Amino acid sequence: MIAKRREPRLVDRLVVDAEAERRELVAGLMRENAAISPKYFYDEVGCALYGAICRLPEYYPTRTEVGLFQARRAEIAAAIGPGRQFVDLGAGDCRKAEGWLPFVAPSRYVAVDIALPEIAGALERLGADFPGLERVGVATDFSHGLDLEGILDAGPALYFYPGSSIGNFTPDEATAFLAGIHRQCATRPGSSLLIGVDGKKEKAVLDAAYDDALGVTAAFNRNVLRHLNAKFGFGFDLAGFSHVGFYDEREGRIEMHLESLREQAVRPDGHERRCRRGERIHTENSYKYAPA
Ligand code: AVJ
Repeated sequence: MIAKRREPRLVDRLVVDAEAERRELVAGLMRENAAISPKYFYDEVGCALYGAICRLPEYYPTRTEVGLFQARRAEIAAAIGPGRQFVDLGAGDCRKAEGWLPFVAPSRYVAVDIALPEIAGALERLGADFPGLERVGVATDFSHGLDLEGILDAGPALYFYPGSSIGNFTPDEATAFLAGIHRQCATRPGSSLLIGVDGKKEKAVLDAAYDDALGVTAAFNRNVLRHLNAKFGFGFDLAGFSHVGFYDEREGRIEMHLESLREQAVRPDGHERRCRRGERIHTENSYKYAPA
């Protein structure tokens, strides 16, 4: 018998607060220490560039994590147990989850990501190999907490949070985020969290991973300006900014910035923000953790 092929269901929760989002962005740009949230990296071009980063020789995290998963798959799957609601946080192209699905036999697969087209395409593709699996895509911004109200049922869940994306939060934010997931697990006995967290390591290794020789990370960083121009009409001059990415040993984090190559004015939403030559817009933190 051939299992009936289900269609994926897509829930778009991105549009609700478009005005608040715009205000937050402009406020970040107008601050003395200008900043843009790393969530704006992931338009379609940004998703493709991130996929390329994951294949670079300098960018060790993806390869290392995939290796760990492959080596310990059966053991980890046994600890999780079958029939969980598989909640994939930052699912992207869903490739990492895909390797787990045959091992954990989830009751349903819930792909959560800020990039709707990315998960829509990936869920479609997953249907070929897992035709009977219930697939749900939730396009949402969980940088301020994860709300899956109305999406999950009362059964146990596996929260899957690989790739050290937790590193984008400050340690305090990370603690609050994990506490939120813990609360969701507590109301669903049998739930668990499978997380991948990058460790602290030698500065030279970290510097290279976030400033690769080919310039893919530089393109990924600068693409945020192109994305904001396209989405909000901000009018950034892409040629006016260069990529800066380095490990700050004192803070225990990677910082990425866009450095203004000359004195220039940027005009987000009619406001004017002058940038001196050498002034930086902070675009990402990626915290590295010690095992403890
Ligand atoms: C997707 C947040 C895990 O911090 O390593 C890769 C993003 N930035 N290269 C990371 C990223 C620059 C990545 N995370």
